[in-house]
Order: sequence, then structure tokens, then C-alpha cells
Amino acid sequence: MKIAILAGDGIGPEIVAQAVKVLKALARDGLRLELEEAPFGGAGCDAHGDPLPETTLKLARAADAVLCGAVGGPKYDALPRPQRPEQGILRIRKALGLFANLRPAVLFPELVGASTLKPEVVSGLDIMIVRELTGDIYFGEPRGRRMNAHGEREGYDTMLYSEPEIRRIAEIGFRAALKRGKKLCSVDKENVLETSRLWREVVNDVAKKYPQVALSHLYVDNAAMQLVRDPRQFDVIVTGNLFGDILSDEASMLTGSIGMLPSASLDAGGKGLYEPVHGSAPDIAGRDAANPLAAILSSAMMLRYTFNKDEWACRIEAAVKSVLAQGCRTADIYEAGTRKVGTGAMGDAVVAAL
Ligand code: IPM
Ligand code: MG
Repeated sequence: MKIAILAGDGIGPEIVAQAVKVLKALARDGLRLELEEAPFGGAGCDAHGDPLPETTLKLARAADAVLCGAVGGPKYDALPRPQRPEQGILRIRKALGLFANLRPAVLFPELVGASTLKPEVVSGLDIMIVRELTGDIYFGEPRGRRMNAHGEREGYDTMLYSEPEIRRIAEIGFRAALKRGKKLCSVDKENVLETSRLWREVVNDVAKKYPQVALSHLYVDNAAMQLVRDPRQFDVIVTGNLFGDILSDEASMLTGSIGMLPSASLDAGGKGLYEPVHGSAPDIAGRDAANPLAAILSSAMMLRYTFNKDEWACRIEAAVKSVLAQGCRTADIYEAGTRKVGTGAMGDAVVAAL
């Protein structure tokens, strides 16, 4: 199992080091892994003047899976757009065809106090957001700047989905629902957007293959509201790139701890890029203060989705649960009565719990 390690910027290298520690501990128990690192994001710019250097993309293509940390930082904010770290992320998604983004929002019972919502609203929360990742207004053409007839500047983007793009992400949504609570909610803006009208038609068509799954549709504004009103009504949500970007941040905060949430971005053959949902947190970088659990849980997702090693994934997840039960907390999830630990100590605790 060949894994490309793209640690990136800010807290990326620290948290990825903990995930690597966990993977290496499993390797001592017989999991066969080959890990290779490459610069990515701001680090890619520093090393090669490109957030996704050619050599990094080559490594990512050759690997079975990619483990990412996070990218970006104040140092890179002033760079022209093609060199911005975010472009590295967008380009690697497109280049590897990673169209299916899975973002679970799970509330660990030990952390129910970390949510800003009342425990009776969020306890037991377990949502899977399936976000389309290589289409929509993120990539639609034409896009650009122009002068209008009045000599005013305009900016424009194109929201665009083809039927096959909708079909394949809908399939992922239905299959995810089948393995879980058998409920799928498709989110669109069908009352306004042509793209969404096609989206809804195609999702309804795919639904015929999955009579066991209860399908519902919500407009995105309503979905945003329902997520804070009664988030437990959701099992799997499937949606486009832009709506998914927004709703997945919202859903992550229901759990109170974005530092806990992993994600997977998959291609049609199961190859995947795995990364925490959180960003590079430059303010706490290098201080042994970041929460490595999202990175560690991302490596569990990798074992499950790319390598079909469900038992090993469960072992990592159980180890994370057990360190939380022991009271270990990084600063972002600390509350009175628990024990505050650093990034490295949290990684060690997970390894010990394995
Ligand atoms: C995400 C991020 C990215 C996105 C940015 C960094 C380009 O917000 O992964 O959700 O918008 O997809
Ligand atoms: Mg986002």
C-alpha cells in the first residue's frame, strides 16, 4: 500500500507526523505500508515555486492513497492566484479525478459539551455529507472579469453540471446511505437554478435503483436551517461542490470540534486523498498545540475506503475513542476536569491505546 504524504503548511506537518506514527505502529503489527513525502501548498511554493509541484503530482499519481495535512498561511496570502496554496488543493482534486468528497460529522459522546448547540439537539449526531468535488461553479467555464456596456467591471463564474457528473455522485450518496441509516437527502436550489433542476431530475432517476433508500430533497437555504434546528434528522446528505463546501463547514461545527473531523476525496476506482476538514491554523503552528485526531481519523478512513481494511480502521477509531474516554484533550477540546496534552502526546496516547 503506497501512500503519498503531503503534510503541507502550518500545523499540517505536526498533525500528519502523528498520523504517520499511528500508521507505523500498525505496520509493526503487520500492516504493509510504503510512505513517501512531498512538498505541497505553501511548502510546494517554497521548494519549487508551485503549490502542486510536478514531482508531487507524480508521486500522488503513483500512490494508492494520499494523506494531506493542511495548506495555506499568511506568508502566501499575497501571492498571485496560481501560486496560492488553495490552487494546489483544487488542482490535485481535478488532476486525480477525486469527485466524491465524504465528510462525516460525528459527535463523540465525550465531547458533547464542546458543541454550541444543546446536548439534547446534538447528542448522537452522525451525518455523512457527500459533496461533489470536481464540478460546479468551482470549475465551470467561462469565468473571468470583463467590462459591461456601462463601462463597469463585472466578475462572473459558471455553475455547471453534466448529467454523468450528477449521476456518479448520486450513486455514491445512495450507496453510502445503504450502508448506514438508509436515508438520503439531496440538497439543491431547484426553485431558482437550472443546474439544480437537472440535478434533482437525475437524482430522482438514480433513486429508482435504490428503493430501499428513503430519498428527500431540500433547498440549500432550508438545509442550512435544518442543520442547526434538528441535525439528527439527517443521515446522508448529497450535494454539489459549492453547497457542500458551505454545509460541511456548518455541519462540522455542530460537533463543536473541527479538529476532530476527517475527510476522504475519492476517484471512481477507490483511490483517495485523505485530509482533516480543518485548516492550517498558522496561529498555533509549531507549538505542539494542534489536535492531531482529525489527521489520525483521516488515516483510518484511508484504510477503510481505499484499502478495504475495515478492521484496522476500526482499531484506530477505537483507540481515539479510548484516549478521549481517558480524558486526554488538546487545547481545542479541553474542558475542566480533563487532562490537557500536546500534539505529540496525543499521538503517543493513540499509539498506546492501539
Ligand atoms: C474545503 C476548502 C476548499 C474548498 C478551499 C481551500 C479551496 O474550503 O476543502 O472545503 O473550497 O473546497
Ligand atoms: Mg471549505
